[in-house]
Amino acid sequence: MATRNLLFLRTIPTSLAELQAAITQAVLFSSSSITSIKYLDIAITLPTSFGTTVSRRHTFHQVSNIVNKVYTLTEGINDDIDVNVILLHEDYNACGGVVRHWSDLRRLNEVGRWLNIVWVEDADDLFGPNCKNVVPLQIEHESICEKWWEGHSDTMETLGEREEHNVSCVGGTFDYLHAGHKLLLTMTAYMIPSDAVSPKIVVGLTGAELLKNKKHKEYVTSWETRCEGTVSFLRGVVGDGRPAVFHSKEDTEMEVESDLPTSSRIKRFELASPVGKDPITVEMHEIQDAFGPTITMEEISCLVVSEETKAGGGLINDKRRDLGWSELEVFTVGLVGGDGTVATKLSSTEMRRRRAEKADVLKGFGS
Ligand SMILES: *[C@@H]1O[C@H](CO)[C@@H](O)[C@H](O)[C@H]1NC(C)=O
Repeated sequence: MATRNLLFLRTIPTSLAELQAAITQAVLFSSSSITSIKYLDIAITLPTSFGTTVSRRHTFHQVSNIVNKVYTLTEGINDDIDVNVILLHEDYNACGGVVRHWSDLRRLNEVGRWLNIVWVEDADDLFGPNCKNVVPLQIEHESICEKWWEGHSDTMETLGEREEHNVSCVGGTFDYLHAGHKLLLTMTAYMIPSDAVSPKIVVGLTGAELLKNKKHKEYVTSWETRCEGTVSFLRGVVGDGRPAVFHSKEDTEMEVESDLPTSSRIKRFELASPVGKDPITVEMHEIQDAFGPTITMEEISCLVVSEETKAGGGLINDKRRDLGWSELEVFTVGLVGGDGTVATKLSSTEMRRRRAEKADVLKGFGS
């Protein structure tokens, strides 16, 4: 039985307030339905102008801002519902990392991914007249309006001409995926266009050495659990919903500089590409320092960071220059919440604090 709902924004609400209304209604509907819904996918359509000829590098900040907005609007409505943003495009060839084709939704619906579909415009032609459990929303909307996507554009002057990326990288602890993590992972996948060659998303996932000084570290979930959560999120937004092909290489010897640990876990997963091109490989690397795979894998060409880990990019590029490798192009996503508050950022720490507190209480009972 599907425990997911879909909010399908085929057209775009005319204002931020209308978008908020749509999201609030979809979240509230999900939490009030008889079978309790745990997941809500929100599918938003990219404007036609983000076509095949448009560089993902140049649209990074526009897309990142919209995805950020949607996650920000879902915060605090119902914390028990796990929200995932999916991006859509009407042109098959403009799909690729994170961006799916409309027809992909039909296929996912046919294999029973969603219990209910909430939409703002009739989409019978897409899902077929027999599509059940459809909830139309009464909000103002218009066909994909370009004005949503204006602003924050990275012009050729600031970014220059450069090849699109085949291999993107991100790092983090990714314990209890919250909106900030999801934004980071989504945008890391966004950097991979449909014609990328041997496309790969490399995730540096914090290992024990780096967690030593973290508060409540004993409540950070295991590397394996965090690995699974991260891959399953990526599978949900990038892949086609099938179980990932699983390649595991435990304790792989890595050729690294002598002052780095020589043994760390690496796991590889293949996510079928929505457009049937090269499957996207997700590589999970256990990292014991702030560099991780960025200085052991020359093929990585871009790095996605958040506002607070921005500085790491410079250090990585210093090392890469020393190695005689090309520098990584660094892309920064804003904090979810946008206004600089760290409320969301803190939520994993907050979760661990609560677990610590709970354990203390239980200990108290025991003694
Ligand atoms: C992506 O792969 C192609 C084919 O191997 C290569 O020509 C291109 O330089 C790669 N792009 C980057 C940014 O490395």
